[in-house]
Formats: sequence, C-alpha cells, structure tokens
Amino acid sequence: MKKLLVVLLALFAVGSLVFVSCKKKESAAAAASGSAPAAGEQTLIGLAMPETTVLRWVKDGASLKAEAEKRGYLAEVQFGNGDQTLQNQQIGNLLTQGAKLLVVGQLNDGVASAVADAARDKVAVIAYDRIIQNSADYDYYLTFNNFKVGQLQGQGLEAGLDLKAATAASPKYITLFAGSPTDGNAFFFYDGAMSILNPYIKSGVLKVVGPYPETSKDTANFQRIATEGWLPNIAKTRMENLLSGDARGVTLDAVLAPNDTLARAILEACVADAKYVNKLPVVSGQDAEAASLALIKNGQQYMTVFKDTAKLAEAAIILADQILKGVANPTVPGAVLASSIGLEAIGDTGKKIVKAYLLDPVNITQANWKDPITAGFITPEEVAANGLQ
Ligand code: BGC
Repeated sequence: MKKLLVVLLALFAVGSLVFVSCKKKESAAAAASGSAPAAGEQTLIGLAMPETTVLRWVKDGASLKAEAEKRGYLAEVQFGNGDQTLQNQQIGNLLTQGAKLLVVGQLNDGVASAVADAARDKVAVIAYDRIIQNSADYDYYLTFNNFKVGQLQGQGLEAGLDLKAATAASPKYITLFAGSPTDGNAFFFYDGAMSILNPYIKSGVLKVVGPYPETSKDTANFQRIATEGWLPNIAKTRMENLLSGDARGVTLDAVLAPNDTLARAILEACVADAKYVNKLPVVSGQDAEAASLALIKNGQQYMTVFKDTAKLAEAAIILADQILKGVANPTVPGAVLASSIGLEAIGDTGKKIVKAYLLDPVNITQANWKDPITAGFITPEEVAANGLQ
C-alpha cells in the first residue's frame, strides 16, 4: 500500500514536471514567433494580488480572472496575505507554470526582484493599481488617478465642514491619517487631499491636531500619520491614542481617512468616546465598500471614493491582450495616459518612467450612495448583508 502511494506520488511529480516544461516550451514558442497563441493552445496570465484584508483585492482577483478567461486565456490568482516574501514565491510559481504575462498588485518594493525574474524569462509585467518601485524591468502601469482620489477626499471634507464659510475666529479641527508608506499610492492620495486642505490650514480656518506633514515629502511627519500595511487595528489604536492624547482638549470636526477600512476603524474609536456619541467627525474614505456605503447612508461616514475595480480589471486584461499580441502602443479604452495630463510622476518607479494609464475615480456622499450598487460593483449579497436596499 505504502509502495503504491510512493509510486503514485512519483508519477504525479514527473507528470507535473512534464506539464510545466511543455507549457514553458509552448509559450516560449509563441513569444519567439511574436504571435498570439494558436487555437487550442491557451496562454497563462498570472495574477498576483497583495492581500485580502481590504475587500477590493478579492474582487479585483475575481474580476481579473473572469476577464482573462472571457478572452480565451488561462488565469491563476494568488493573494500575498500582506507578505512580500510570499508574493515573490507566488510570482516564482506562476513563472514556473509558464505564465506569459503577470498582473501584479504589489506589497512593497521587495517585489522588484520577482519582476526582474519575470523580465529574465521575457514575461511582461503590468503593475496593477500600485506602482512597482525601484524597478526598470517593466513598462506598463494601470491605476486610477490617485492624486484625484485625494482631491476628492479633500473636497469631501471641505464640503462636509463647510470650510468656505468657516472663519479663523471659530476654526474647525482635523486630524490626519495616511495609508501605508510601502504603497506609492498613499503619497498621491495624501498630496491630492492636502492640495485642497492646505490653503484653509494656512488661513487659520482649519487647525490640525497631531502631526501635520504639509505634503508627503515631509517624511518624518508623514511616517507619524502613515498606517503601515493599511492595517485597520493600527489606525484604530492611533485614533484612540489621539483621542486620549493630542485631541483631549478639543472636539475634532473631521478626520482625513485614506480608505474605507481605515475610516471604519477610526469611527469605531470615536463611537467609543463619549464626546463623539452624538456628533461624529466628518470622515473621508475610499473604495466604496458596502459596509461604508451603509455608514454613508446613515450619515456616519461622510464620503468615499468609488473606483470601479471591475473596469480596472477589464482594462488590465485588454492591455495584457495587446502586449501578448505584440501591439507596439497599446491603448486602453476609458483610460488617459498620465503623461497627457501632466501626471507623469505617477509612472515614476525611481528607475524609469513607465507608461501609466489612469481611470477616473468618482466622489460618493449621502446624495449618491447608491451609484456603486447601480454600477453592479456591490453584489446583491452585499446589499442584503449591509441593509443597502
Ligand atoms: C489602493 C486602495 C486600497 C489600499 C489598501 C491602495 O493601493 O489603491 O484602493 O484601499 O491600497 O489596500
């Protein structure tokens, strides 16, 4: 019995090796000829997503796989569980399986070595949503206009606080949070938001409680307000500490929160504080998560930013398809090139400027909270589970 098992395992191992090496040869042949795979010979697209704590990535993974399969590709999704070493192993496995193109939502710049391995194997990489920093080994980046995401957050707080009508004699109080310093997006979100808020801070209408980096370039202060790994428990603890520390003597009117997961963690800390039981601060967000839409509907979270990730996933596979077919200047419907609107910095990896395609984010408040549902971004199950009928 034991012997049989050993033989079967050995056969399985040999079988998989043969399978892997055949796949590698097939795709190498297709790449060498520069042509699309012939009918019946499916090309594998590897999809490496960073984590599952923030719900969007689960949706991104599913949408990318569905879009790839719709266009006749094989697709495999891996989630890095917030661990770059794990994601690099997953990318290595995808390469071994013969993936011809990778779509990567990275965790930190440690991903660059895995991208270098892909380049060595002549496998194209699309940086997905997050730029891959410190790498010259890829050419394409697809994301949303992340500076605009931040501007929408800043404008949301401006409206929620009615800053245009506020005076320095009776200022509003805000505290600032940023996303993970390992994620290039966090800097754009912050700078976009502060481009709206800084003038009010300068005129004394808006007062910052806690650290105040005027821009993300103030590295020391930015680190103080950043949320490593985008982890909600870190934001909640920081908010609790602020409430019992720097913000003890004032009542906060607003919190700049960079996404919905963190907005809800911050709101949880506020709800537990007697001072805010009747009036919560105006809090921003991002991602249009169902749980936050419910809070927006009820007036507890002020706004979010809707980034239709199903459209991002579709755009990524449209781009992938053109790259695999050797199209010289791929175009992505519905996206603008960052360079065409003066935002080439979005595509700056620190080692080269990659071609960055941007989709447009949308502002969501109590006035239009149903829009992400109408767009099909929120599933019927999420609608039911979050009381969004
Ligand atoms: C994404 C956001 C997301 C955050 C945390 C960012 O890179 O653009 O949509 O909320 O990561 O996962």
